[in-house]
This record gives sequence, C-alpha cells and structure tokens, in this order.
Amino acid sequence: MAVPFLDLKAQYLQIKDEIKPEIEDVLETCYYVLGPKVKNFEEKFAALCGVKHCVALSSGTAAVHGMIWATNLPAGSGLITPPNTFTATAEGIVLAGHVPVFVDADPITWNLSPEKTEEFLAGCFSTGKPVDPKTGAVIRGIVGVDLYGQAADYKTLKKIADKYGLSLYEDAAQSHDGSRFGQKTGSFGDVASFSFYPGKNMGAYGEGGAITTDSDEIAARMRTLRDHGSQEKYFYNFIGHNYRMSAFQGAVLGIKTKYIHAWNDNRIAAAARYNSLLADLPVELPVTVDNTRHVFHLYALHTPVRDKLREYLAAKQIGAGLHYPEPLHTQKAYSYLGYSKGDFPVCEKNANENMTLPMFPELTEEQQNEVASAMKEFFKKD
Ligand SMILES: Cc1ncc(COP(=O)(O)O)c(C=O)c1O
Repeated sequence: MAVPFLDLKAQYLQIKDEIKPEIEDVLETCYYVLGPKVKNFEEKFAALCGVKHCVALSSGTAAVHGMIWATNLPAGSGLITPPNTFTATAEGIVLAGHVPVFVDADPITWNLSPEKTEEFLAGCFSTGKPVDPKTGAVIRGIVGVDLYGQAADYKTLKKIADKYGLSLYEDAAQSHDGSRFGQKTGSFGDVASFSFYPGKNMGAYGEGGAITTDSDEIAARMRTLRDHGSQEKYFYNFIGHNYRMSAFQGAVLGIKTKYIHAWNDNRIAAAARYNSLLADLPVELPVTVDNTRHVFHLYALHTPVRDKLREYLAAKQIGAGLHYPEPLHTQKAYSYLGYSKGDFPVCEKNANENMTLPMFPELTEEQQNEVASAMKEFFKKD
C-alpha cells in the first residue's frame, strides 16, 4: 500500500461544505485583499496564540522579514539563529538589513541551544556590546525556530536576551497551536512569525503568513509596512512592501482556526503510535520535552543510514522527506558570512541523518503499520 507524505485532499473533504460558501462570499463581495475575512481570521488567530495582535501577511517569508523589520533595529545588527532551519528564517534577517549569526542546536530537540547561545555571547565582548567576531555586527537579537513543531526553550532564551539587552523573535512557522510551560507558540518573545503554506499544520489554499505580538507598536508598524508604509491611501510614511493577505486565504484560515487543535491532537496521537511501532529499531526517535505540546508538523527521526532507508521506502511508494538536507552555514547563499563545514556539529548531524515520515492529521493506523513494517524489513535486511 502506498503511503503519501502528506494528504491535503483528505482534510479538504472534511471541511469543503464550510469552505465553499466562504469562498463564494469573497467572490460575491469582491473584497479580494485584506477586508472582513482577513480581519476575522486575525482576531481568531490572535486569540488562539493568546496575544493581543495578529497581522496577516502574504507568506511566512514575508512574516519573518516583517517581524524583524517592524522592530526597527539599527541597520546591520547581528541576529543569532540556528543554521538547521528553512532558509526563510535567515533570509528574513538579511531582507530586514541585518546579519545572521549562527549558533548550534541542541542534540535532543534540534532547536537553538540556549547553552551554546550563552557560551557564544560570553565570548563576543569587545566594547561593552556583544559583537560577532566573524562579521563585526553588533548582536541585537535572537531568532528561535520551533523546528518540527516543538517550541524552542524560550524561557532560557528570554533570560539570555534580557541579560544582553537583545530582542527575542520566534519563527513559529511549524508550530501553530503548540505550547511550552502552558504558554502558546506565537506568544514567546517580542514578536512571532507564522507560515500558512498549504503543507503547514494550518495551511492556506495558497500562500499566507502572519505575525503575532502583544506589542501595539510592532503590530501598528507591521500593518503599515504590509501596505507600502501607508496608513492613508496614497500617503506614505515610510518605504514598505506589498505583504497583504488575500481575502480567499483569510476566509480559509478563519475556518481552519476552529479545527487546528483537534487536527494537532491527531498528529500527536500519530506520533505516539510511531514511537511505539518503531521503538525497537536502531533509529533516534523524536523527543518531546516536558510540559510541551509538540504539534508534529514533521515526525523527524535520525539514522546514519537514512539515504538507503529513504530509497527503500520510496521503492515501496512510502513518502519520506528531508528537513533539511543541508544546513544554512554551508549553503552557497550564506558563504559570504565565512562559516565552514564542521562549525556546527549538531546541525550537521541533523542534516545528514534526519528523515521525516508521513505525517498529517488524517493518517490512519493502517498507513502507519505499513510504514513501520517497511522500516522493520529494511533493518532486518540491512
Ligand atoms: C521555519 C520556517 N520559517 C519560514 C518559512 C517560510 O514560510 P513560507 O513558505 O510561507 O514563505 C517556513 C516555510 O517553509 C519555515 O518552515
């Protein structure tokens, strides 16, 4: 039996009777950009994250860029982030006019390591401010990433940020409706960014993103930036962008906000099932740390034989992914920063050994059994 990596159709079929009239409504009202559907979604999503403001945007990349841009740091600031993330995290830093400063991940959660962040910062002092020894950028921020659906350790990162006077950002593109220590993802740090790319836990039917924050100032600035720096039509306070969300996406996401918690419960149950089915295999299974709602955007395991294993699964039409196969510090696009292979051993191991299994809320036990028995066969033969 073939098992797809992702099945977007299964979810659409559940909610299509609600989706179609909402889309029809957008067509009838001709309010295609921002407008009441997007506003309704923003209110619901802010409530879901437990924050005052959600500002809906055109993509998750716009959201990472926007959240950093909206905090108005001096040009050329250094922002600490892990290199084992999707390129948009570091891209957002660069698009906002700053410098990514990479620090290694934690070997259990694969999220930015607070210990290594602290250690790195302690070695960065020259003139009273932390300065990145590689690029000379004054470090003014930390961008955590909730990789695979598990919030980074923001409690510790916040203490470090406060100690060094840094802004704290959360890239929550993979962790809608997650939590840690009772606090929702999207509410850590000064501001957070989300992606609603179709394959995300909460996916639009096209591109979409948002920032969430308790800060009136950051939210107001983001609303202006997303619309060309304008608060009044044809009058511009500063240079902005066109990062407005489509009303069609607002309509879809407004409905999905109701279901995301239950869908994530299904993902969590599926992850627990994988954990028990695969417990005896020689692979590192994902770890959920205490007091955390890891929402399993991706079920990532690690094994040194992952390329062969992935080929074996592909031959049986079982979809397995790589998230991600190459860390950012060794990518050509970031070579100007001067990093080398070997600089971040945990992120490099993550890149070399990760493999992600089929994971979506509608995944059946039968499909999971199929994945597990193919993996057991592989390790018997291997
Ligand atoms: C961690 C992370 N940040 C940012 C993004 C960018 O989101 P988008 O694809 O919506 O631009 C993604 C999406 O893949 C992501 O996984």
